[in-house]
Amino acid sequence: MIFDKQLIPKNIDDYNSLYNHSITNPEEFWSQVADSFLWKKKWSKVLKYDFSTPKFEWFVDGKLNITENCLDRYVEIHPEKTAIIFEPNYPENETIYISYKELHSKVCSFANVLKNNNIKKGDRVCIYLPMVPELAIAVLACARIGAVHSVVFAGFSSTALSARINDASCKMIITSDGSFRGNKIIDLKSIVDEALNDCDCVDSVIVLNRINSNISLNNNEKWWHEELTKVSDDCPAEIMDSEDSLFILYTSGSTGKPKGMVHSSGGYMVYSSYSFKNVFNYNDNDIYWCTADIGWITGHSYIVYGPLLNGATSIMFEGVPSYPDFGRFWQICEKHKVNQFYTAPTAIRALAKHPLDFVEKYDLSSLKVLGTVGEPINEEAWNWYNENIGKDKCPIVDTWWQTETGGIMITSLANVTKGKPTFATKPMMGIQPVLFDENGSLFNENNKNGILGIKYPWPSIARTIYGDHERYKNVYFSAYPGYYFPGDGAYRDDEGNYRITGRVDDVVIVSGHNLGTAPIEDIINMHPNVIESALVGYPHDIKGNALYAYVILKNQSKKDDIRTEINQLISKTIGPIAKPDKIQFVPGLPKTRSGKIMRRILRKIACGEKSEFGDISTLLNPEIVDEILKVFKNL
Ligand code: PRX
Repeated sequence: MIFDKQLIPKNIDDYNSLYNHSITNPEEFWSQVADSFLWKKKWSKVLKYDFSTPKFEWFVDGKLNITENCLDRYVEIHPEKTAIIFEPNYPENETIYISYKELHSKVCSFANVLKNNNIKKGDRVCIYLPMVPELAIAVLACARIGAVHSVVFAGFSSTALSARINDASCKMIITSDGSFRGNKIIDLKSIVDEALNDCDCVDSVIVLNRINSNISLNNNEKWWHEELTKVSDDCPAEIMDSEDSLFILYTSGSTGKPKGMVHSSGGYMVYSSYSFKNVFNYNDNDIYWCTADIGWITGHSYIVYGPLLNGATSIMFEGVPSYPDFGRFWQICEKHKVNQFYTAPTAIRALAKHPLDFVEKYDLSSLKVLGTVGEPINEEAWNWYNENIGKDKCPIVDTWWQTETGGIMITSLANVTKGKPTFATKPMMGIQPVLFDENGSLFNENNKNGILGIKYPWPSIARTIYGDHERYKNVYFSAYPGYYFPGDGAYRDDEGNYRITGRVDDVVIVSGHNLGTAPIEDIINMHPNVIESALVGYPHDIKGNALYAYVILKNQSKKDDIRTEINQLISKTIGPIAKPDKIQFVPGLPKTRSGKIMRRILRKIACGEKSEFGDISTLLNPEIVDEILKVFKNL
């Protein structure tokens, strides 16, 4: 273990005292945590910050390279330990085990390929790869030489890809000839070709042969494996300033253009590593699996950096939970004797709809800790996860955080603090959540809903939006001066546990009442004939706003009865105020690739708009927009 024992709470009393220490003496606390890492030069000051600029500097003047902390030091300690287990899309294909020594060698070799292709410290490199080990290798190789990686999820369209490449002026793109996802083969290279028609900044393209597609490459495009034959695996780590950028990762905002969140080297290293150890209670020989894609922040912090910084064994899965059948996750858990399993509520809900046989035929006794991330988890899904996967013996950590925060902010700590269904619960060490009321005033009372703010900086806070510091300031630091504003609502119970109630932009004020859409959707979803629903607000003459429900039904008969029953259910559970004015049955909902409903579009349709939906190319199912509009027209 890299951290001093004193820094790892073992029980609730330890947590309380360590948490108090972390917020009363934050600089001393973070300095103790940061002492656990390899620094080329120690920092002169732990923190300099100014919320008004806004500017945050952690471990000022410190010099380091994050890959020495992920790799070199473990090559000394346990060279043969498996760093990455690669589980391919097709279960019959061979699992690949990559030791720390091998990973170090592969990262250094590929770092030399980058150098050979004229990539230098500070250059931006776009990585558009499926979930294969080379994705992690490319990320770490960039970090090795101080290039700034910008990973774009390999499910994004060419338009979304070119927008991201251009926004960061990437000099290189790393991709593959294709990818395997479930029973589909995706031709990634032609998506890249299309994107590159609009990108003048890209000088070179490195292509991994993943699917043996026999394509021939264009000028200035090179095969990954051929480039490797020209280099050695000796690549000294570039010395980075603690505040030098490590990566850019795009996240969508409430307006169309994505925001390139910029993360630093030193602060991100310290926080992603420390949070990983504590949240998941990772112990030396555990096998840890996060099912996210490295295209998202969860994959950056909790598949690559957090686990490797702790010398852990981290599983990378290329496929999808439904292929070859709905038992794939559990088959992998059994096969690798997974100890910590971290996934999204969307996946849990999707799997819970299928017979339990898919779970029960596998031995899940190795599981010790379960986690969720990305959205609120409803009680039904929580119970299913707890009973059927955790067998009522695994703590569930419901981790609230964001692309912008770099690491987990509010969560229970497995086996240390208590979880509570549907609550993310307590702040991580060093994190100071606060609640504001609708007038923007801070309040300390419990058992009350409010708008979440964070009072004090933490090491992995994003430092800016690439190329648009003004937007960074406006979006995150203007609503409540002196605080970070994440855009979420939260409820605090009388034990100080936080429940995230959803985006504050999903809150609709109906007749002067604040109504969170998520809890109402949960109720609609309880109707036995409902598959899923989404609720948005639309302007109403008398009430100010009214609610519009889009509902997917299992079977289409007796629609009027179902409307009445949904209204009765809501009236009974929340009150008549929460009844939607309109309930529209639809064949599907517009969703992002990470499974989030694109409410922006539903809001526009509810307001009567028929076009001008902004960029919908990043949707998983863009065709659904027209289908919903058709239903709307026929009403
Ligand atoms: O609304 C919160 C929700 O996801 C948002 C952040 O999304 P993204 O940057 O894509 O990062 C997702 C992975 C960290 C938050 O503002 N969210 C995230 N985790 C939770 C959550 N909502 C409720 N409970 C969570 N555990």
